[in-house]
Amino acid sequence: MKVLVIGSGAREHAICWSLAASPRVSKVYCAPGNPGIAAVAELIAHPVTAVAELLDTAGRLGIDLTVVGPEAALEAGVVDAFTAAGRAIVGPTKAAAMLETSKAFAKEIMIAANVPTAKHHVFHSRPELERHCAEHGAPLVLKADGLASGKGVFVIEDASQFPAALDSLFGPLKAERVVVEEFLTGVEVSCIFAANGSEVIPLAPAHDYKRLGDADQGPNTGGMGSVCPSPRITEQELAWIQEHCAAPILTVMRERGTPFSGFLYAGLMVPTDPAKRPDGIRVLEYNTRLGDPECQAILSRLASDPVDLMEWIAGKRAERPKLAWRSEVSTCVVVASDGYPEAPVKGDQITGLDLAALVPGTVVFHAATSRDSRGNLVSVGGRTLTVVGLGADYSTARSAAYKAVDLIQLRGRRVRRDIGA
Ligand code: AMP
Ligand code: GLY
Repeated sequence: MKVLVIGSGAREHAICWSLAASPRVSKVYCAPGNPGIAAVAELIAHPVTAVAELLDTAGRLGIDLTVVGPEAALEAGVVDAFTAAGRAIVGPTKAAAMLETSKAFAKEIMIAANVPTAKHHVFHSRPELERHCAEHGAPLVLKADGLASGKGVFVIEDASQFPAALDSLFGPLKAERVVVEEFLTGVEVSCIFAANGSEVIPLAPAHDYKRLGDADQGPNTGGMGSVCPSPRITEQELAWIQEHCAAPILTVMRERGTPFSGFLYAGLMVPTDPAKRPDGIRVLEYNTRLGDPECQAILSRLASDPVDLMEWIAGKRAERPKLAWRSEVSTCVVVASDGYPEAPVKGDQITGLDLAALVPGTVVFHAATSRDSRGNLVSVGGRTLTVVGLGADYSTARSAAYKAVDLIQLRGRRVRRDIGA
């Protein structure tokens, strides 16, 4: 079959790589893709939000199955358009993707589904919010309602941080609604579930590293690395999370007439004290797609055919697929450009990938890469590459990943050294 993947990051590279290895796939296309993806897929130059062009191209090429990577394509309604045209697609409709695109909506659904989550209030104006912050004090978490590429969340640990957060929320972020949450403590885990509208199947749990610097210092980023499976939860806890934090969401979404299919990513805060688990586990947020860089760590361990899973999600296969995972664990390290996340430097040359490719047990996925006029590989954004290492244990996987990372050169690059440590 012919498949189309929508997106251009390392997550989409991992999806294309995984689909290309399926004996059921004859050809992979990717729109718009990147130079790394070009090694496993034919690139189509449509932006991820060009819904009409994507649909038209899928028809012309006779695409059997489309997989959507980024939330921007979901918000643009690509799944609605493909579904209306009778084309199989993996991802939620625009209405179902509101679980990610609106924090206030997500909270409303969590309450209706009785999902354990932080207590919250929604505010519509700055004076109202200022009063609440002054009365309540720190710590508190303020979240802009709507997609803000990870920049809309302010974890306030000290009251002196309130004014700057409010300035950003009501200034550049133009928030019309702000969700204020109680501050939770613990460690974070990303549990991603495949969903077909009525049932869920858990993928192997992962966790990512959101802060720029080692030991979780510095600003929040899209994620500087990940490991899979996450040693932070047990199989029993994953089953509890499925029962309390994923399955009830599908029930409520179905009852509301907006069934959820695609990948439901529950971002969880897990208490470090085992005595407080599983009951103390709380949902921080939902994403309605595979996580980046969690996807790269997860898919590199998937041993069963990804097409069976994708078809089940898209409603093209009734039989529930049984997922199999490689016994090796994976560690995924992000190589970001100088200046990331504030002001990533673009146009710097990336070298050493040929040597990195020789490191056993590793695979490099491209994100913000491009070719300059002379054909050199250059960085064109923040997170540039992700390097996955696989190994019998975390330390082996980690050394493999860093061995490949250290062979790659990008001037002023930002890399965390403690992923999987
Ligand atoms: P979100 O986009 O809602 O997942 O928030 C981004 C990051 O902010 C999370 O990954 C957490 O590190 C942090 N965060 C969000 N909500 C809370 C909360 N209620 N308590 C503590 N930290 C939080
Ligand atoms: N790694 C976090 C995300 O994909 O949103």
